[in-house]
Amino acid sequence: MLHDHLRRPAVVLLHDDRRSRGWFGRGRMAMLPRNGCWAGAVYGPNFSPANLELLSRFYKKYPEYADKTFLSVKGGLAPERLGPDGSPENLRRSVTFINEKLGGIKKMDLFESARVPTNVPVEDMIKTLVELKNEGHFQHIGMSECCAATLRKAHAVHPITAVEIEVSMWSYEEETKKVIAASKELGITVAAYSPLGRGFLTGTIKSPAELTAGDMRRRMTRFDEENFKHNMALVDAVKVVAERKGVTPGQLAIAWVISRGPHVVPIPGSSNKKRNLENLASGDVELSEADLGEIDELLAKTSIKGGRYNDAMDPKMLRLWG
Ligand SMILES: NC(=O)c1ccc[n+]([C@@H]2O[C@H](COP(=O)([O-])OP(=O)(O)OC[C@H]3O[C@@H](n4cnc5c(N)ncnc54)[C@H](OP(=O)(O)O)[C@@H]3O)[C@@H](O)[C@H]2O)c1
Repeated sequence: MLHDHLRRPAVVLLHDDRRSRGWFGRGRMAMLPRNGCWAGAVYGPNFSPANLELLSRFYKKYPEYADKTFLSVKGGLAPERLGPDGSPENLRRSVTFINEKLGGIKKMDLFESARVPTNVPVEDMIKTLVELKNEGHFQHIGMSECCAATLRKAHAVHPITAVEIEVSMWSYEEETKKVIAASKELGITVAAYSPLGRGFLTGTIKSPAELTAGDMRRRMTRFDEENFKHNMALVDAVKVVAERKGVTPGQLAIAWVISRGPHVVPIPGSSNKKRNLENLASGDVELSEADLGEIDELLAKTSIKGGRYNDAMDPKMLRLWG
């Protein structure tokens, strides 16, 4: 199974001298053997393929890493509206685009449907992906932001290697638990995105005013002034446990995600080398039953205000738990 072959957390050591906001930037990067790298066909503030171009430059410079790393790329968004489109034409376009942008030295290992499209039944989308896989565009099929029932439907057509969902101390919903449980049963790796609560759980952001005007977290309900203040109670509680364990709050947050099961691989993002190394070291943090019990207790008594994205947006647009 994929998770048996990957470091946890999966992390891309990424230098971004222009500090492009924690997403895959345009800077320099380095990867470690057995690293899993989760990318997207279009990512970042301008929805550009800059991260694929960055990967292309990396593999050109270090071709020996083509075999040492596992590359997952999310795609399948319709180019004109950036919503998922599971039609055979669009999936073929997306898959071809991704491998072309990667530059020929490394093909993606896994293609992941970016959210669940509603224009085709999920079974039909998987059948198309099986055709593309059999043509050699990639070796593995992944899903993202899907509920457990959809994951089961997809897996019944063809084995799903990985599913990418949000998992963190402040994003641990009933459906999160169901997807983690279904994945365990079916032998699927869970790529746990935003394990640091988009940076919030590290305790380094003291106020939403610190975020630049273009920072997408400014549009997330949990980062509204009032909610932010309320939600800081969780960070304060996390800090106490982290201090006692001699780790940073961010490391504790990632270690907690790792503790959800051996098949759960957190994918923290940072544009900063030092922070990436700090995040990577979370894989060595051991949490005892007593530690986990203490964290469970503090999570149970700390409420979080605001949903995972923007509460004012039409849920159909967000397509959470598709
Ligand atoms: N499937 C989806 O819908 C979806 C959605 C969101 C994210 N993702 C994926 O998940 C990855 C991670 O998610 P994310 O970036 O949203 O959230 P995250 O990993 O929870 O947090 C990243 C943020 O935390 C900061 N950070 C990272 N390490 C830190 C540390 N040790 N100390 C202090 N701050 C730290 C980063 O800023 P600096 O860059 O300044 O360090 C960045 O702003 C993304 O790269 C993306 O691949 C997927």
